[in-house]
Formats: sequence, C-alpha cells, structure tokens
Amino acid sequence: MRRKVAAGNWKMNGVKASLGEVEALKPVVTGGCDVILCPPATLVAAMVQAAEGSGIMVGGQDCHWNESGAHTGDIAAEMLADAGAGAVILGHSERRADHGETDDMVNRKTEAAWRAGLTAIVCVGETEAERDAGTTLDVIGGQLDGSTPDGATGENTIIAYEPVWAIGTGRTPTLEEIAEVHDFLRGKLVARFGSAGEAFRILYGGSVKPTNAAEIFAVSNVDGGLVGGASLKASDFSGIVTAAG
Ligand code: PGA
Repeated sequence: MRRKVAAGNWKMNGVKASLGEVEALKPVVTGGCDVILCPPATLVAAMVQAAEGSGIMVGGQDCHWNESGAHTGDIAAEMLADAGAGAVILGHSERRADHGETDDMVNRKTEAAWRAGLTAIVCVGETEAERDAGTTLDVIGGQLDGSTPDGATGENTIIAYEPVWAIGTGRTPTLEEIAEVHDFLRGKLVARFGSAGEAFRILYGGSVKPTNAAEIFAVSNVDGGLVGGASLKASDFSGIVTAAG
C-alpha cells in the first residue's frame, strides 16, 4: 500500500504573516497521509519552525544542481536541507516555461536533491496543444524518462502529473483521462524499475480543490495531489489533506 501525499505548492505567494495557515492546518494533520508544504525559499526556515511537531514536511520549489558556487539567485539542495526542508519540487511546468528548464536540468537537480537527502517531487505534464494533438503520453513518457535518474526509488522520488492546461484554470481532466496517464506512468516505472516501480507515489496536480480531491484521489494509481491555489489557505487545504487520509 502506498501512503497518500497531500503536497502544497505556494509558488510565489506568502510572507511571514501567512505562516498562521500552518498553525491552522495542524489539527487535520493526523498521520493518515504525508503532508508536504512548499513555500517560497524565504519562508522555508520559518515554516519549519512553525510546523514543528506537526508531522508537516516543508519543501522547496526548486534547487540548483551544484552544491555551491557562482549562481546568483539560485539555491542549493544542501541549503534547503540546512533550512530544515525534507523535499523539493523539481521541473514544475512554470519553471520549465519561465526558466527554460529541460529534462536534463531536472535530472541533474534530482540527483542534487538526493545528495542533500531531500525527496525530489518531479513534475511532468502536457500542454493543451500537446493534448489536442494526441501526444500526451509521448510527451509525459519522455519527460519522465529524461527527468528521473536511474537511482530513483519510491523513497527518494515522488512523481507529479500536472497537465499544464489544468494548472490554475479550474479545469481538470476527466477521471478517465487522469487514470489513463497515471496507469501509463505506473507502467513505465514498473518497466524500468521492476516491482520497485510500484512504490513510487504518483500525484495528480492541476486545479485540485476540497470539492474534487476525494474523487481524484480514488482514481487508479493516483497517490495524492500537488496543490497550488488551494494550498494557500488552511480552510481549503485541510479538506484536501482529509481527502488524502
Ligand atoms: P493549482 O496549481 O492547484 O493552482 O492548479 C497546481 C500546481 O501548479 O502545482
């Protein structure tokens, strides 16, 4: 049995005053699923403190592949770990689009996350044009192969399927479409890693809300969600955490 994950991606939202949401979330974090919150880097250390004793893991939203050096504005995986993070989102479609991140870069970042002891949350997902062209599975398969190093295990890596057109739009694929992609990703992981491929958690992301979380999390091979907008307020995210277990 894979333990479900409710992961929140705050993106470029949140200041110190937002940490009250962590306090408000604590009562619903009862240990039935893994809860990960990924604030902007400026809040990682403070959120780790705010979450102390709650079982909430704090994560970053990106890291560099190097351990240190002349990379102005970048953050090393080791720095996230030093701030108390336990995970990092890598290859989010917004990073791929805004910063030109390629599968190869995400692959190197994933190695860096493991080097620092972080769980890598590796994101894949098709654009609307790719779905319309019927190339969804090709695109996602290529991203999965290219972005995950051979050392990936269900312990050190979580996969997140996020259709680009569903992010922040209020639109979601049908449950059948979600199942098709998640079953496909599971098949690829098992083909590559054997029975160890069964251990990876595969999250769905893109307009997950308290109102649709339970039905999405019940879909074949959906092991939880990566949630943007609805993770910012404890009043929304708590319903999603409860749906995950
Ligand atoms: P959304 O974002 O839940 O606001 O659609 C999901 C994500 O990008 O991780």
